[in-house]
Amino acid sequence: MGFNFMTAAEAASLIKDGEIIGLSGFTPAGSPKAVTAELAKIAEEKHARGEQFQVGIITGASTGDSCDGALSRAKAIRFRAPYTTNTDFRKAVNNGEINYTDIHLSQVAQRLRSGFLGHVGTAIIEACDITEDGRIFLTAGVGITPTIARLADRIIVELNAAHSKNIIGMHDLYEMERPPYRNPIPIVRPSDRIGLPYIQVDPSKIVGIIEVNMLDEARGFHASDPTTDRIGQNVAEFLASDMRRGIIPSTFLPLQSGVGNIANAVLSALGKNPNIPAFEMYTEVIQNSVIQLIKEGRIKFGSTCSLSVTNDCLQEIYDDIDFFRDKLVLRPSEISNCPEVVRRIGVITMNTAIEADIYGNVNSTHICGTKMMNGIGGSGDFTRSAYISIFSCPSTAKGGCVSSIVPMVSHLDHSEHSVNVIITEQGVADLRGKSPMERAKTIIENCAHPDYKQLLWDYLKISTKGQTCHCLSAALGMHQTFINKGDMRLTDWSEF
Ligand code: COA
Repeated sequence: MGFNFMTAAEAASLIKDGEIIGLSGFTPAGSPKAVTAELAKIAEEKHARGEQFQVGIITGASTGDSCDGALSRAKAIRFRAPYTTNTDFRKAVNNGEINYTDIHLSQVAQRLRSGFLGHVGTAIIEACDITEDGRIFLTAGVGITPTIARLADRIIVELNAAHSKNIIGMHDLYEMERPPYRNPIPIVRPSDRIGLPYIQVDPSKIVGIIEVNMLDEARGFHASDPTTDRIGQNVAEFLASDMRRGIIPSTFLPLQSGVGNIANAVLSALGKNPNIPAFEMYTEVIQNSVIQLIKEGRIKFGSTCSLSVTNDCLQEIYDDIDFFRDKLVLRPSEISNCPEVVRRIGVITMNTAIEADIYGNVNSTHICGTKMMNGIGGSGDFTRSAYISIFSCPSTAKGGCVSSIVPMVSHLDHSEHSVNVIITEQGVADLRGKSPMERAKTIIENCAHPDYKQLLWDYLKISTKGQTCHCLSAALGMHQTFINKGDMRLTDWSEF
């Protein structure tokens, strides 16, 4: 049989109003780019004619602008899960235009299989190669692709020549069985391989192939600065000290590192610290700093769900594939983030907080409790099952007008029961084995910015005594002051 080659516009026209579409990839890496942009045009045309047109979107994680950006500007998204980072999408979500369901990334595939998220009509999958018998070779990100490929009624493949076929062999694709027939995931080391290097689908489900040559819509990173450097050094010194104490074995343990500028800077600092031995990663995203550290021999192996790197960095990997092939593996998100594996192999997790409270609760997703930033991503998958869970962030945001250490988080993503360590550029708060009041003292003393320390001590003075001291009418007073006056430093506890 021959495949049906078509244009992206023709493929997009196969998608119906109200349909749920599932997308390959994880971050802009491996996400389709051509069909979703055409779908946005179709939606705009239909809306101009007064017709209704919206789809539901389920992905591995964030995508590029040609998906989340174009479709949200076209008001073409009815429902979306899980994580995104797009500015226009964020605006639409916070205006109440899109129903956004933020779920732990390891759970998306299982929830799809179990029918929690509705039925996927069309899967759009980016590939670097495909065979007539239905083997699809993926590109730089995996996400939920094996699951949507199996569950969808039809598959559209974006065959993207911008991705080198050199990546073939780097994937390890494995899908879990449904309970009660699930087997243990047989991974005991980050480099263990348990699946196939391709997805096998029924070729009759492939309704169209679109040939494209489009680079990943990769995001760049801010250069590190003295604050992120200091955070990175604090993380590295903390881990080195835990190793000296025998808490971390001398062979070290696999690391997970979150997304964004701070995570990228923290990893660079870890790599530079001579007291940290070369290590492995069991993580969901590999950013530029990891590739650099692999080249330097500081990282021995990386298990990930995506190569979320800049395009020049991706090209370096493709060009030097013989060096990288046995140092990287790309897995589906339910495996890269699998709590069972994370707990078994003892992953040290390092994620970024928007804010943390004085008791160790962490908000990773909402600004001032109401506005969605990105989503929880995999931070919960890793934190809850970690050997040591670390959250880091600068002690202030918005030019010092916001303290990242607050009396009570305005939204809770990771509770005091899961968070072991909080680190800012000011210092390290090791919360392990401490009571809430011991934690409060450690966090204020070591992590809060000097501009906010007294304010936080004063909060404790006005609090009602208890296992966890709070003054409920003032607990969000610093946030309210920021909303009213633009600067948390102007908080006056007597007003609450
Ligand atoms: N109040 C208001 N704004 C805040 C804030 C706070 N307490 N803390 C951070 N911000 C703002 C920053 O000012 C910045 O805004 P800008 O884009 O307008 O400059 C933005 O949030 C991002 O902060 P930045 O300092 O650049 O950090 P980052 O790029 O490392 O991102 C998170 C930080 C928390 C948003 C990001 O790590 C995230 O989405 N995490 C959740 C998901 C996750 O952890 N995934 C990884 C699991 S593997």
